[in-house]
Amino acid sequence: MTVNSEKDLMGLLRIGRVVGMTLQKMRAALRPGITTAELDHIGAEYLRQHGARSAPILTYNFPGATCISLNNEAAHGIPGSRVIQIGDLVNIDVSAELDGYYADTGASFPMPPVKPEYQRLLDHTRAALDVAIAAARAGEKLNNIGRAVETFARKGGYKVIQDLPGHGVGRKLHEPPTVPNFYVPTLKTRLTEGMVITLEPFLSMSANRVVQQPDGWTLKTEDGSMAAQYEHTVIITRGRPLLTTLVS
Ligand code: CO
Ligand code: CO
Repeated sequence: MTVNSEKDLMGLLRIGRVVGMTLQKMRAALRPGITTAELDHIGAEYLRQHGARSAPILTYNFPGATCISLNNEAAHGIPGSRVIQIGDLVNIDVSAELDGYYADTGASFPMPPVKPEYQRLLDHTRAALDVAIAAARAGEKLNNIGRAVETFARKGGYKVIQDLPGHGVGRKLHEPPTVPNFYVPTLKTRLTEGMVITLEPFLSMSANRVVQQPDGWTLKTEDGSMAAQYEHTVIITRGRPLLTTLVS
């Protein structure tokens, strides 16, 4: 969507804060021994207490309030009886709706101690989100974002997972435009003021693609290598975008 009014802006900021806080609450509860279902329950409760509805449930009837993906799972992991272990990389992705507005955020967390090469993947992917944010400006081409992220990923020796792009968001969870994390020369779309999109680079040690698992949801890297993702919902401006899901 594009922000057209003060009401739009307030609605987006309100749900942005709720999903951002939900992610922080879940992060605070992360410890070895907790199951992904217990973690999801903490997120579900926080959303409920703030009048928000889980977007994956609302939109796709996903079997969980949030997506929790471990290690070589890049996205859409189903919360369940699995126990978080020392050494795991835990990706939590939270999206929700409040008063007709949506926001979407995610982050990968280490369960220390993790292998130094996995910590480096997390650090580089987090920095790739900053690179995406810096490239997202009104008047510029949308494919600047993908070009910048892909170049930065390559510099670190990582691969962009090409089948997991950012997307428009706001009135629904997934709206046009698609926001690739790699350079698509034919993409002519320009970013305009007030456009609401997610920036969410997915990087992996060596995979460009993910494969859907027999559970019908979980997306694992095609070669089983580790993956990471960091995501914010942003509103495009002439300067630095406004991050609706950033909480401090
Ligand atoms: Co997300
Ligand atoms: Co998203």
